[in-house]
Amino acid sequence: MTLTFRPIETHGSDLEQEYRLRNEILRIPLNLVFHLMPEQIEAETRDFHYGLFDGNGEMHACVIATPFEPGKYQIRQMAVIERQQGNGLGKDLLTKTEQALRDHGATELMLQARDVAIGFYDRLGYERVGEMFTHVGIPHLEMRKKL
Ligand SMILES: CC(C)(COP(=O)(O)OP(=O)(O)OC[C@H]1O[C@@H](n2cnc3c(N)ncnc32)[C@H](O)[C@@H]1OP(=O)(O)O)[C@@H](O)C(=O)NCCC(=O)NCCS
Repeated sequence: MTLTFRPIETHGSDLEQEYRLRNEILRIPLNLVFHLMPEQIEAETRDFHYGLFDGNGEMHACVIATPFEPGKYQIRQMAVIERQQGNGLGKDLLTKTEQALRDHGATELMLQARDVAIGFYDRLGYERVGEMFTHVGIPHLEMRKKL
């Protein structure tokens, strides 16, 4: 199946699909409620949102990049639909996101990896930083990559 990489529009059906994906893949498995405060919704309109879409406009993977210092972005909310995990979509999405962010002047990326996903980011060249910490009830590790 051919999937297209493109920005996710931060309104309408694109945004609804992104919220559904984040809820199904990142919140429900942890018994967490997906709820954004109005100020978070507003703040996310200033982030970069990217996705992989099929020919019917269905989103198969999403990611958000939040600028936190000049040239530096935090990668967040990386999720691939369950039936497509392990098929190379995560690698494709993150690689293309890195290129898109480079084009916006990014020089360094950081993220907080869930312990189960650390190996994925290792393979994509992210370096482990510091000690594990607990966030949303599960172990995480900060990882960084210079672009
Ligand atoms: C983690 C996730 C984004 C990875 O995307 P994916 O499409 O499943 O991964 P890919 O198929 O692109 O894998 C790319 C490479 O990473 C490896 N990999 C993928 N998931 C891995 C994992 N959890 N641990 C270790 N290695 C992993 C693959 O084997 C592959 O290696 P290769 O290039 O040597 O063949 C996806 O599985 C997912 O959404 N998981 C649930 C939500 C989650 O944990 N999100 C991350 C929060 S920090």
